[in-house]
Amino acid sequence: MSHSTSVAPMVARSGRALKGRVTVPGDKSISHRSLMLGALAVGRTTVTGLLESEDVLNTAAAMRAFGARIDRDPLGVWTVDGAGLGSLVEPETVIDYGNAGTGVRLALGLAGTHPIATTFTGDASLSRRPMGRVLEPLRQMGARIIARSGDRLPLSVRGPGTAAPITYRVPVPSAQVKSAVLLAGLNAPGQTTVIEPIPTRDHTERMLLGFGAAISVEADGSGGRIITVTGQGELQPQDITVPADPSSAAFPIVAALITPGSDVTVADVLLNEHRTGLLTTLQEMGADLVIDNIRETGGEKLGDIRVRHSALKGITVPAERAPSMIDEYPVLAIAAAFASGATTMPGLEELRVKESDRLAAVAAGLRANRIDCEEGETSLVVHGRRGAIGGGTVATYLDHRIAMSFLVLGLAADAPVTVDDGAVIATSFPTFQKLIRELGGDLSLAGEKAA
Ligand code: S3P
Repeated sequence: MSHSTSVAPMVARSGRALKGRVTVPGDKSISHRSLMLGALAVGRTTVTGLLESEDVLNTAAAMRAFGARIDRDPLGVWTVDGAGLGSLVEPETVIDYGNAGTGVRLALGLAGTHPIATTFTGDASLSRRPMGRVLEPLRQMGARIIARSGDRLPLSVRGPGTAAPITYRVPVPSAQVKSAVLLAGLNAPGQTTVIEPIPTRDHTERMLLGFGAAISVEADGSGGRIITVTGQGELQPQDITVPADPSSAAFPIVAALITPGSDVTVADVLLNEHRTGLLTTLQEMGADLVIDNIRETGGEKLGDIRVRHSALKGITVPAERAPSMIDEYPVLAIAAAFASGATTMPGLEELRVKESDRLAAVAAGLRANRIDCEEGETSLVVHGRRGAIGGGTVATYLDHRIAMSFLVLGLAADAPVTVDDGAVIATSFPTFQKLIRELGGDLSLAGEKAA
């Protein structure tokens, strides 16, 4: 399903403190994986708190096309009836993954070791993103691939009769690549090993363990991990409750920090240590950010995050922290615009291949709003405000996080901030506008009367 709604410019205005307690939607990474692993298990998996956004609905459609039965009850609980590993059926039509990089890369892993032919496509953003990083290990496992030059979508994959298990060292810190190889390994006889020199989010490993897969995770002695799955076992269905997405929580958190008088609590947020880099960074910048009610559910840590408007100072964010906050740099750049001094962010090469070239998109959006910054090849330096900021129109390039980040800027800037398309937000956070309004923020469609 390519982006279904038409382009809708949005505008954010300042002047109101944000107050209240909110819950953001379910974690996108865990939501994709819940539907996929449920589709591979024998029997019924239930999923409560699934993120019902365009990206995840595309995964639901894809898993249906592969033969799973997926339903939603009126209370919003999803059921997935899987037929078992090795049982994916050949989709009858092209699978359109819209904007969803995680969805398509993980589904490529699943399809790549099944003896079926699948054709994947996506929107203009997804069709620009590199797929070679997952196609390379799949080729080693025996998959045949026909792709546009540069290994971009649309592309077709046909898995081998019997896949070859491999040992694969991931060349970029990417949970998507790691996960694609592990999911492919589930349908290969014997052991498939992924060596991950730089640890990334570990939801696939944790969830595979929960579904009863034969998986082991060891330290490699130099900070990395060695993950091994033994393929062709049986997965047991699970009852999953999806925690709130820390990457979505980041938006109300930063909005509260930069908007005078604000006091906001975001409840039940996933606190997996590979996802909390932004919270650590904001605390180092001087944020009044308190995490309490910490507990464990379904093998993951959750907590409530209370933030109050704070005087922030610029810092240097360690490059090695990037994997634990990779999706949060755009909104960190907004926090940095309100800090005193410069915030330096090295190690950002992966931002160039996200839903947009996020380094370029953030730098352009900051400049359009009179915020000084320096865009390096793999780094960004943001200078805290010295005068009036805001008043610009930001190009979002089909990137939900660029849209939300700059709307957050508008909630605290000296002049309204417009984004050229707010409809893209539906890929990950369909309730964003409603939630910001509930907190008191002034966010509206351009042309609509202010909220
Ligand atoms: C994700 C991994 C990250 C992240 C994406 C979700 C996942 O991508 O940016 O939003 O669920 O595995 P990379 O693995 O490509 O860094």
